[in-house]
Amino acid sequence: MNFIEAKSYADLSRKAANIISAQIILEPESVLGLATGSTPIGTYQNLVKGYQNGDLDFSRVRTINLDEYCGLSTDHEQSYRYFMNHHLFNHINIDRNNTNVPNGCAEDLQEECSRYEKLIASLGGIDLQLLGIGHNGHIAFNEPNSYFEKDTHVVKLKESTIQANARFFNTIDEVPKKAISMGIQSIMRARKILLIANGSDKKDIVMKSVYGPITPEVPASILQLHPDCTVIYSY
Ligand code: PGA
Repeated sequence: MNFIEAKSYADLSRKAANIISAQIILEPESVLGLATGSTPIGTYQNLVKGYQNGDLDFSRVRTINLDEYCGLSTDHEQSYRYFMNHHLFNHINIDRNNTNVPNGCAEDLQEECSRYEKLIASLGGIDLQLLGIGHNGHIAFNEPNSYFEKDTHVVKLKESTIQANARFFNTIDEVPKKAISMGIQSIMRARKILLIANGSDKKDIVMKSVYGPITPEVPASILQLHPDCTVIYSY
């Protein structure tokens, strides 16, 4: 694993965007695995700047997102599709048909998981996967568990996650109880991984993930086995 210490959130965001920019410049048809959450917002802002100043061309880039809530329409402000449009896709020259987020409103969620799995394969895998990390070590919606979930799957959200997400909704009853998440194998198959962690509250879990035992109880710990994983952190 490579470790890069950033001086601040702004510095972390620039560094992460620089790595993604290099990927796009070197391989204009790259498949980017993208993440939601508060941490990548600054990274996306820097990618938008890169497009606006003429350094980046997204016209041939393909993207695939890690996860989506079940039951929220794409125009719901808390859906991850909405997040991606709002923070990145609406501001760059990407072909919307080349952007992929699981369909959390699919009638048959299992079928949607299989479709997503096939989609990742049909894109030829992921060139660069951006990841955030949860306080419990989750990556995407792969929560601590007794085993690693391999493929794209439906997750029943933990009560603690529902509570944590309630702040974004009017009432706790509106918080989705399920989500679709890419599995650990799809993430681990990415050719490069870039994990970003911001804030002193993430320090313990990052240390545990990168130096502790590899266990599904700390899903991010599996990244220790990835041959090209970079962690950028700012505490
Ligand atoms: P955050 O979320 O970027 O909002 O801290 C990270 C995650 O839960 O994956």
